[in-house]
Amino acid sequence: MEIIIQPDSHEASRLAAKIVAGLVKEKPHAVLGFATGQTPIELYRHLVEMHRKERLDFSEVTAFNLDEYVGLEPGHPASYHSYMNEHLFNLINIRKDRVNIPFGLTDDIPTCCRSYEDRIHAAGGIDIQILGIGTDGHLGFNEPSSSLASRTRIKTLTAQTRKDNAAAFGGMDKVPHHVITMGLGTIMDCRTCLLLAFGPKKTRAVAQAVEGPLTAMVPASILQMHPRAIFLLDEESAAELQRAYYYRWVYDNKPAWQKY
Ligand code: F6R
Repeated sequence: MEIIIQPDSHEASRLAAKIVAGLVKEKPHAVLGFATGQTPIELYRHLVEMHRKERLDFSEVTAFNLDEYVGLEPGHPASYHSYMNEHLFNLINIRKDRVNIPFGLTDDIPTCCRSYEDRIHAAGGIDIQILGIGTDGHLGFNEPSSSLASRTRIKTLTAQTRKDNAAAFGGMDKVPHHVITMGLGTIMDCRTCLLLAFGPKKTRAVAQAVEGPLTAMVPASILQMHPRAIFLLDEESAAELQRAYYYRWVYDNKPAWQKY
C-alpha cells in the first residue's frame, strides 16, 4: 500500500485528479471505476476543469460505478446515476453508452449483477478504481462481515451507513435498505485502487484499514492484499496512523521516476 498524507482534502483531491488524468492521457481508452459520496466531489470538479481548460479527453473512456441503491429509478435525485451525471458525466465528453452503473430498478438482481461482472470483464477490467471508505470501514457498499472474495451482488446497508447517507434523502427513514455493489473480489481485480478519505469521521476506519488486522469486519482492510492500493488522506483522517512518519518519509523521498 502507498499511504499519501496531504495537508488537506483540497491538496489530496488535486493529487487524485492528477493521477486519474495522467492515466487517461497515457491510455485514452482507460476503464475508470467511480465512487459517489461526499469525498470524491472535489476530484470530479478538477477533472471537469481539466476537461474544459486542458482538453482532457474522455471520449474513449469506459466507466463503471461501484454501486447503486435498489428501488431508486435512475432519475431519482439521490440515485447514484443522478449524482454521477451532476458531478461528472454531464460535464465531460464521456460517451453515455460507455457508462455503466448498476440498475437499481431491475426485477432480476442476480442476472443484473452477473451481467455487470461480465461487462467489466468484456471491457478488459478496471484500470483504476476510485474509492471512499465508510465510517464503519465499508468499501463500495460491502459492509462489515462481507465476504472478502465477494462479487457484484445485493447487500443490506447497516444502520450506521443509512444514517451517514440520510442527508441526501431528507431523513434516515427514506434511505433504502438495499444496494447493488461491486464485491470486494471485484474491487481487488482492479489494477489500481485509489482510496480517498478526509476528515475526522474517517480517522478510525482509516487506521483499522491500513494498520489493523485484515478482517471482514473492516472490509477496506482487504486492500492490504492489493498489489497497487493508494490511500490519499488528509491530516485529519490520518491522525491515528502509528507509522505516519514513515509514510511521509517514503512519499517525500520517492525517486523521480515514481512521482505523480
Ligand atoms: C460510494 C461508496 C461508498 C462511499 C463511502 C464514503 O459509491 O461506495 O463506499 O465511498 O460511504 O462516503 P462519503 O464519501 O460520503 O463519506
